Amino acid sequence: MSSIDALLNNNKNPDHAMLEQALSRFASHPLFDQPDSFYCDSPYLRPVRPQDLREFNFDSVLALAELKQPSHLMAQRLLLNIYEQDLIFLPQQKKLHLEEFNAFYDEGLRGAGAAIRPMLERHVFGWLDSEVSVSGNWDVDTFKGYADEVLDRVARTPSALLDCIGNSRNPANAARFFLIQCAGDFLSEASAMARNVLGNFGPAQSELFKILIDEYGYGVAQKKHSVIFESLLAECGLNPAVHYYWQFYTATSLALINYFHYVSANHRHFFRYLGALFYTEASLALVTRAQAQAMRIAFGDTVDTLYFDEHAHIDVHHGKMAFEQLIRPVVLRYGNQVLPDIIRGFEEFRLLQDVADAELFAHVAWHDELSQWRPGPPPALPAGARSHPFHECRDDLSVTHVHGATELFAVDKGTLRLVCSPFTELNLSAGQHVVIPQGLLHGSVITSDHCSYTVTSLE
Ligand SMILES: [Fe+2]
Ligand SMILES: [Fe+2]
Repeated sequence: MSSIDALLNNNKNPDHAMLEQALSRFASHPLFDQPDSFYCDSPYLRPVRPQDLREFNFDSVLALAELKQPSHLMAQRLLLNIYEQDLIFLPQQKKLHLEEFNAFYDEGLRGAGAAIRPMLERHVFGWLDSEVSVSGNWDVDTFKGYADEVLDRVARTPSALLDCIGNSRNPANAARFFLIQCAGDFLSEASAMARNVLGNFGPAQSELFKILIDEYGYGVAQKKHSVIFESLLAECGLNPAVHYYWQFYTATSLALINYFHYVSANHRHFFRYLGALFYTEASLALVTRAQAQAMRIAFGDTVDTLYFDEHAHIDVHHGKMAFEQLIRPVVLRYGNQVLPDIIRGFEEFRLLQDVADAELFAHVAWHDELSQWRPGPPPALPAGARSHPFHECRDDLSVTHVHGATELFAVDKGTLRLVCSPFTELNLSAGQHVVIPQGLLHGSVITSDHCSYTVTSLE
């Protein structure tokens, strides 16, 4: 009996059984199952490691401190696949596989995704309810005063990204890893925004539409922000195809994209969307200057930083528009009752951005550490440490994932390649080991006919 069957039999609640079935159906779809590479050559191939499903309980709500857990990464990957079935992707460099196209947008697969979406949203975003609470008597001017203070602090805080890239042992690769984190979002920039421009909500609707058409380059392909970002990726030696680096998105980078879809797919969250939009546009106007500078540190003065320069310029206007033309008139028209959700969106996206930055920096620090890796004696194991042995064959590929605890990864027989980023790989052979910290992305591929390795929790 499969684990999914067991779950179905053990649970008397038919709704729960249906959810489990939909989860299994969606996650195990061939498009999201085992790939043969760490890189995704098609916008429809987005591996999620369905073999891990049995270990996770998506019914629970993760706490902020639990975002390094593997179920967070899997749920964020699943959610992006679900949300992006609403967007149109066609390959730009490769030929179109019509069967993959039809399969990605298949009605049954969409139905399964729609069924599991609320559960996954609760699992990954439910923690925001306890971390962000809005109390007190706000009006639009006290909120403006508060937001100005927050944004002023962002403007005055030295860029941690600049430090991270500038102090890396390999600034170019650190910058590339940062660009990969952006790519999941920027290559279909403002798609979630487009979910919010339909319907009829008065003058604010037309103001939002203006921001949207700026992002889409007023119908001129070369000016579309995602196209400008494609050029930057190519110039920095990266593949600009949509989700080519799918396996290297951190869970919290995915959370930034998914949050906007989350508050835009269900319009009950529209006021949260407005607050988050205001934070992102206003803060981007401030941080993109440092991002452009980081590109120059990494790649030299000749790199074309138009993508970031354009945002340093246009997002000053977008930030002002989001407040003065959207939030202020909406609050004046519909009353202070809509303010708590607007403030909540502002605070939630700010928090998500900080969490994502910290996760990016932790990855770059580990990649730097691994660049100095030398064979050495294994660390002492904690008393009662349990080891799990694995036996695999040549070319067996383990899709990138994270562990909920820091682990010792030791090769006992044969050879394998541990892949932590497109630029950080270790070839390990029998007798060699590496410590994999909690929550950091890695995958592996076997490079000998047979390979055995052990994974031991160090916590
Ligand atoms: Fe933009
Ligand atoms: Fe913008």
